[in-house]
Amino acid sequence: MSAATGAVKATSSLIACEGVTVSYGEGEARVTALHSVDLAVQPGERLALWGRSGSGKTTVLHVLGGLVVPNEGSVTWRGQELSSLDDAARGRARAMGIAYIFQGSNLLSHFTAFENVAFAREASAQSAGRRSDRRAEHEPEDLLELVGLSAKLDSLPNELSGGEAQRVAIARALAQSPELLLCDEPTGHLDSDTAERVLDLMEALQREFSFALVTATHDAGVGARAGRVVELADGHVVGVTQP
Ligand SMILES: Nc1ncnc2c1ncn2[C@@H]1O[C@H](COP(=O)(O)OP(=O)(O)OP(=O)(O)O)[C@@H](O)[C@H]1O
Ligand SMILES: [Mg+2]
Repeated sequence: MSAATGAVKATSSLIACEGVTVSYGEGEARVTALHSVDLAVQPGERLALWGRSGSGKTTVLHVLGGLVVPNEGSVTWRGQELSSLDDAARGRARAMGIAYIFQGSNLLSHFTAFENVAFAREASAQSAGRRSDRRAEHEPEDLLELVGLSAKLDSLPNELSGGEAQRVAIARALAQSPELLLCDEPTGHLDSDTAERVLDLMEALQREFSFALVTATHDAGVGARAGRVVELADGHVVGVTQP
């Protein structure tokens, strides 16, 4: 079978990009953000995407999360070609286990911390019946306790500090029982002590939940904690290191 028919390739990767090229805009305004990027993420690994502003980190996360469809190349989830699926099937594939923590926590502003987590858990449970057993173990209040926010269940996002909002965003992502957690500049708006605490927490939760973690960052501290660092420059992968 060809890739176009949704062939499943033999692979140990959780998700993989091959020859992914992404361009934005038209005509003279056209910008090629990624040039033939190859990247494979293994189950449970901790990978950092590192590079200067504009190098293409967020675009890679968007491709992995299915928010951007590449102009060229393929994206496979557990060996299943995603670009060959229609929108509904792609949505289901995504619901199978990819959670996203956006730059700035991006919480629903009219919902409390508890409601933000509960809503994500509900939406995720509805779109995929999988691992409902595991999901049932982690009620929203348990997840908020895990991130140290039991006292803030009823707080609205504008009543939380930046670090607290970031931790609600982490609890919300965990409520989806992800196999892959995509995280864009998780420490971008935090002071260095709070950033350390958020990163410690992510590591501890990753050990407990064993999801693969892909973090886009220009913070060298995040890179130093990763199992593998993929360096981007001008939309090209220019290096892979293991700290
Ligand atoms: N929606 C868009 N329309 C046009 N160009 C875009 C769009 N999004 C990103 N770009 C361009 O694509 C390139 C890569 O952007 P991207 O956001 O992936 O970089 P980044 O590494 O995440 O940067 P930062 O560290 O500043 O977040 C940049 O040149 C950027 O200007
Ligand atoms: Mg970015």
